Amino acid sequence: MRFDIVTVFPEIFAGALEAGIIRRARQAGLVEIRTVNLRDFATSRHRSVDDRPYGGGEGMVLTPGPLFAAVEHCRGAEPAASSSVILLTPQGETWNQNLALQASRLGHVVLICGRYEGVDQRVIDTLVDKEISIGDYVLSGGEFAALVVVDTVIRLLPGALGNAESSVNESFSAGGLDYPQYTRPAEFRGMVVPDVLLSGDHARIREWRRAKALEKTRSRRPDLVPGDAGCVR
Ligand code: ADE
Repeated sequence: MRFDIVTVFPEIFAGALEAGIIRRARQAGLVEIRTVNLRDFATSRHRSVDDRPYGGGEGMVLTPGPLFAAVEHCRGAEPAASSSVILLTPQGETWNQNLALQASRLGHVVLICGRYEGVDQRVIDTLVDKEISIGDYVLSGGEFAALVVVDTVIRLLPGALGNAESSVNESFSAGGLDYPQYTRPAEFRGMVVPDVLLSGDHARIREWRRAKALEKTRSRRPDLVPGDAGCVR
């Protein structure tokens, strides 16, 4: 799989893409990630990529020229249909595990990091396949949202996680939140690990975990509990 990240701040990505699971997946050849500096596609004397909005108003809007040129550069000779262009914006559909799973099956994803007051609507209408938000809050730009997308997708690529880190039992993979985890020591400052986890009775442990996960999901995220009112799945 390949990601191209179109941004005016490529330096934001350097450390984040060179550590942990992302680094390992890149080294193993499971994913190729390039950052593309939008300013390299600006044609004006000052390499500007934004301008004032028609009709007036606050802030600046990313202009179409550099964005079209950058995405065309990312696509190279491949047909437009073989890559998917995602714009990171607070206006988008909210990112979730299911969208991450769908994205993990794509071959080539171009992520456009929105900035300023927004992006010229013609880019959204004709270049962008999907607008994605990572939550109901406003970031200074789409860069951190792009990192969230890349990280959540990579951990779903077959072979990206070691056996010990399987994504199968993680929160959301089964539709709800995770059960509580404990490790050594069995007693710490008077706080003890629940007996059932020390019992060696795997059927009872499974049942305890299922019940605890459901209890936590019901209290924190009732919208995720199948059969309960308000469940979005
Ligand atoms: N850009 C600014 N805020 C954002 C958000 N919540 N999600 C994605 N991109 C953004």
